[in-house]
Amino acid sequence: MKGVILISGNGSNLQSLIDSSVEIKLDIACVISNVSSAFGLQRAKQAGIIGHVLDNNQFSSRDEFDLKLSELIDTYSPEIIILAGFMRILTPDFTKKYLGKIINIHPSLLPKFQGLHTHVRALNAKEKKHGVSVHFVTEELDGGPIIAQSVVDILESDDADSLARRVLSEEHKIYPKVVSWYTHGRLKLHNNQASLDNTPI
Ligand code: GRF
Repeated sequence: MKGVILISGNGSNLQSLIDSSVEIKLDIACVISNVSSAFGLQRAKQAGIIGHVLDNNQFSSRDEFDLKLSELIDTYSPEIIILAGFMRILTPDFTKKYLGKIINIHPSLLPKFQGLHTHVRALNAKEKKHGVSVHFVTEELDGGPIIAQSVVDILESDDADSLARRVLSEEHKIYPKVVSWYTHGRLKLHNNQASLDNTPI
């Protein structure tokens, strides 16, 4: 299945998808970054995947940027759009257009800790558990229907970096798994409810 991956930074989740792409039947048509220095673009290049930079600073409004982004995406006619560390809030017009075929990974056990700095916030809140969520993207930031989560115990000795590392290692396992459910036609979104093999998640 043809997919487009959106990034803004390091791209370790992109790497996990590249590494598993044959197994999960994902044909990565291109990678798009809104940050020209994103290391993920080098990962794409290394893998022989087309990389595009669409610098949001070159656009005067969020609407204009999202319009251009969707034009670029549409030139590839992807069946799935994968946000992998794409650090931009998307407009409702954009998320509505791709509803049911756009997914995101977020480093917290949603609905807890939407937004940024999730690891330090989980520590400050004295949580015992933290983790990662993969969800369908809707117009609500980090608020779309949850597809899968992976839980990590918070240790006494943890700081934000050590916790982030353990969560990230779970991210690298869970994202290819969810994408493979999608590429095999097992994962759907209907009436704001995710389902796997026709069973609500
Ligand atoms: C990950 O923690 C992801 O969940 C979040 O941003 C981070 C991106 O990391 N949305 P990477 O660029 O995939 O290494």
